[in-house]
Amino acid sequence: MPSRLVCLISAVSLGSCLMNAASAAEVSGPQPFGQTYEGTPVERYTLTGGKVTVRLMNRGATITEVLAPDRAGAPADIVLGFDDVAGYESEANQYFGCTVGRVCNRIAGGKFTLDGRQYQLAVNNEPNHLHGGGKRSFDKVVWQGEKLVTPRGTAVRFSYASPDGEEGYPGNVKATVTYILGDDGALWIEWEAMTDRPTPINLTNHSYFNLAGAGSGTVLDHEVTMYADSYTPVDTNLIPTGKIDPVAGTPLDFTSPKRIGERIEQLTKTPTLGYDHNFVVRKADKLPAAAARVREPKSGRTLTVFTTQPGIQFYTGNFLTGQPGKGGKPYIYRGAFCLETQHFPDSVNQPTFPTVIVKPGEVYKQTCVYVFTAE
Ligand code: BGC
Repeated sequence: MPSRLVCLISAVSLGSCLMNAASAAEVSGPQPFGQTYEGTPVERYTLTGGKVTVRLMNRGATITEVLAPDRAGAPADIVLGFDDVAGYESEANQYFGCTVGRVCNRIAGGKFTLDGRQYQLAVNNEPNHLHGGGKRSFDKVVWQGEKLVTPRGTAVRFSYASPDGEEGYPGNVKATVTYILGDDGALWIEWEAMTDRPTPINLTNHSYFNLAGAGSGTVLDHEVTMYADSYTPVDTNLIPTGKIDPVAGTPLDFTSPKRIGERIEQLTKTPTLGYDHNFVVRKADKLPAAAARVREPKSGRTLTVFTTQPGIQFYTGNFLTGQPGKGGKPYIYRGAFCLETQHFPDSVNQPTFPTVIVKPGEVYKQTCVYVFTAE
């Protein structure tokens, strides 16, 4: 394992290297980025840490750009997105880079029962609820941004107050997502939320990565390692059956590095149409735990993902249609992958899964770290 990555992994556990490295990191903004169709101003912030630059937009507390160097130092923008707000508001946007909430992934039939009362949410992905809803889910609303300096690097914090009943969910929820970029190419994403009534909360980031550069073809040659020995199998509607199965002997076995394309065809005849699976992150002594690592062989760009959550959804852009994105580049079928750290899908209806219910007085807190290196 490269020594830099060892440092980063131990930094994630021990909080040491990152603190020392934070001094050269910078944050700028907000810069105007247009307005929503309702006329609300949209702004962007730019974080610079080491050789990595990250741009963030207050609509959906969204990552709009990640410029990361290849092994020769040449930067490329490695996340899917659009050049303007209208692009993000269009049908072509499949949750590119956004914060997903209140509950990411699917809820069966859009229904759940809590404290004896049944709740009906929007069915926006027949026959299920997907990624928090309909019209005012966390990815679509405009958050309040502020710049911060933290011990680990400069940061932008986005805050949003979601009123009781929004998208059918109970409770007034106050949520923040803080993006911190250290001088070592480690982007920390920290979510916090509080509620005044028991309610489900499961937040993630939905960046689509192509480590060769967004819009530069498929990701089939990317090599993936998942620090996961099991996964949650799903039914024909992509709802977990409730079982936890081993990955061994299946195309989901990424316990040693494998090309995405090597076995993906075996999944195209299944309801997931490719990789679209929640992996159970291997237990670790210290959190955030390493969950996944992806390397693009030509550029040498590598993404390592750490999380405090029990699951990570690996999705290979099976519903991308070639829609034009930034600079008009087409985002083709299998042209990107997502690694969404989260609690398991449909947890609110699955008594054997770790709970996603947050109660008044509790603070929901989760962290994901995306580490960008080149080797
Ligand atoms: C889900 C996919 C879904 C996609 C939408 C992913 O998180 O796993 O099934 O189509 O989001 O963008």
